[in-house]
Amino acid sequence: MASLSRPGWRLLHVVFCSLMTVSIISVIGFIVTSQMTLKYNVKMPDINLFRYVVDTKKDELSSSQLEGTSTITIETKNVTSTTKSTIRRFQSQMDADDDDVASRLKKEVRVLCWIMTCPANLKYKTVSVKRTWATRCNVVVYISSTTDTSFPTVGLNVSEGRDHLTEKSMQAFKYVYDKHFNDADWFLKADDDTYVILENLRYLLKSHSHEEPVYFGHHFRAQVKQGYHSGGAGYVLSKEALRRLALKGNDTNLCHKSGLDEDVEIGRCMENIGVKIGNSTDALGRTRFHCFYPSMHLSGLYPSWYSRYDTHGGKKKGRESISEHAISFHYITPTEMYYLDFLIYHILPYGISSVDKHLN
Ligand SMILES: *[C@@H]1O[C@H](CO)[C@@H](O)[C@H](O)[C@H]1NC(C)=O
Ligand SMILES: *[C@@H]1O[C@H](CO)[C@@H](O)[C@H](O)[C@H]1NC(C)=O
Ligand SMILES: *[C@@H]1O[C@H](CO)[C@@H](O)[C@H](O)[C@H]1NC(C)=O
Ligand SMILES: *[C@@H]1O[C@H](CO)[C@@H](O)[C@H](O)[C@H]1NC(C)=O
Repeated sequence: MASLSRPGWRLLHVVFCSLMTVSIISVIGFIVTSQMTLKYNVKMPDINLFRYVVDTKKDELSSSQLEGTSTITIETKNVTSTTKSTIRRFQSQMDADDDDVASRLKKEVRVLCWIMTCPANLKYKTVSVKRTWATRCNVVVYISSTTDTSFPTVGLNVSEGRDHLTEKSMQAFKYVYDKHFNDADWFLKADDDTYVILENLRYLLKSHSHEEPVYFGHHFRAQVKQGYHSGGAGYVLSKEALRRLALKGNDTNLCHKSGLDEDVEIGRCMENIGVKIGNSTDALGRTRFHCFYPSMHLSGLYPSWYSRYDTHGGKKKGRESISEHAISFHYITPTEMYYLDFLIYHILPYGISSVDKHLN
């Protein structure tokens, strides 16, 4: 860079990226001109990083401000070498975890996530998805009925409400096909109360070809001959499945454009366009997609309809039945989103490291 060689001009670019904190934190610091203004853009959700920077550097900070809810800009006029070394030290701690495999998989198994949401949910529910697990998708699209350029959401021409979910889902997949077909290999649909562990999703998918017409999720053996995947647990379509849905989904003999139960209608459509149900059970017979929250799967105190729907007859319960490479849970409140993200990515029992168990 030419500017680097010019005296008085320096560019410092520090990116903090970590999967082990409450979620990804990005700090970009740059020094411009000889006045030495250091500008940090601290991407939330981790308010702790903001406090950390403010607390340790308060003498040097000339101003700090809160921009919206997701970005904090801190400007400091007096950049000392301690500021820089503090940033470096923090960065080296954040980078200490070995995520080589997950980082490589992120490039090899590209997942687009589209999140079903609505205008009323953005501020509380959807933002908790945006700040936690959605940060780990290769591409994220928030589907709503109105366009919000700041969140941002894509507004489709649909009415809100349960009765219009099929319509919304069909249009969303068409939108994703039109705008993002080349940006990913797999296309995940999730609700704004679904929690997804992207690394585990990529682990399952790496054993499958996205050229196969297949989709994965929590399998229900009802309503449709081959069954269908629960909407709330999230389901993921291969590129070929998406292509078929986009090109054949408009044929009303094969797929309903609207209908009461989104997941059933999508499931029926999948069957009619030759998309198969994928097997997501792990090698030890344990489940990876879950249509309820963790404690319900642990206790086994399911609602009565569940045994008729669940592929395993609703008999699986307890921690031995849930894969440690579990992919999703449903009915997660915003508070639990942060809580799960914190426990999964930040807390590690010292002295225990996981062994690759080949669960596919
Ligand atoms: C910059 O900070 C250092 C250490 O905190 C202090 O000694 C120095 O006086 C400051 N310089 C300016 C120009 O404020
Ligand atoms: C939205 O959908 C309605 C009902 O299907 C239709 O009449 C209208 O033309 C659509 N508007 C746009 C902008 O596509
Ligand atoms: C469905 O869409 C495809 C691609 O846009 C088009 O070629 C086909 O004619 C459409 N079929 C129907 C039944 O509308
Ligand atoms: C599903 O996949 C797992 C892991 O590869 C395998 O052990 C199991 O036999 C498969 N189940 C079915 C019904 O194919």
